Amino acid sequence: MTSPQNKVYLRALEEEDIERTQRWHNDPELYQTLVDGFRFVSRTAEREWIAKRTSYSSSEVSLAICLAPGDEHIGNIYLRPVNLTSRNAVLGILIGEKDHRRQGYGHQALWQTLRHAFVDLGLERVYLEVVADNEQAIRLYERVGFKTEGRLRNHVFKEGKFRDVLVMGILRAEFKTTEA
Ligand SMILES: CC(C)(COP(=O)(O)OP(=O)(O)OC[C@H]1O[C@@H](n2cnc3c(N)ncnc32)[C@H](O)[C@@H]1OP(=O)(O)O)[C@@H](O)C(=O)NCCC(=O)NCCS
Repeated sequence: MTSPQNKVYLRALEEEDIERTQRWHNDPELYQTLVDGFRFVSRTAEREWIAKRTSYSSSEVSLAICLAPGDEHIGNIYLRPVNLTSRNAVLGILIGEKDHRRQGYGHQALWQTLRHAFVDLGLERVYLEVVADNEQAIRLYERVGFKTEGRLRNHVFKEGKFRDVLVMGILRAEFKTTEA
């Protein structure tokens, strides 16, 4: 999978990625921005998680985001679950390595994943949930064509207060396959 400016590439998650995925799962700061709540994750739980993510499945795609030169694994991106009847999927993304945020890597990984969803898997719609004050993520989703479809009020409890969550979606016809 390539995009015009190819600073990152995607590959399947592997069992060997477990050290990084467990570290990211145990990063409370990262979870301040995610819809999922923070929980401490043991190596046993992480092994179960990565076993699921690395098993062949028609209902999920779990990918590692890697830097094109150097192969460093900096984050993950998911289509999970994929609904093959209604041809839609839920997207999730994180750049786990803080120092690699705000360098355009998330944008490229998102574009490449949408391309995979629409061009390879033939999906009609990709959607996601994002905490309403995660402005950076929302701008990124809008940049690739996501539209806000709804607002779930007081949907998640984070750092002592309830926060709204936006539902954002993009249809196949709204995705520009020629630009990153
Ligand atoms: C949200 C997230 C996935 C975005 O990925 P990213 O790689 O940081 O995003 P990008 O670099 O592509 O774009 C983010 C910003 O960096 C800017 N940017 C891109 N390339 C840049 C560069 N070379 N130098 C400086 N800034 C740059 C973009 O213009 C954008 O700016 P904006 O927020 O003012 O619009 C990532 O920050 C992350 O994982 N955050 C924590 C988890 C999270 O919030 N996940 C989403 C949950 S819904």
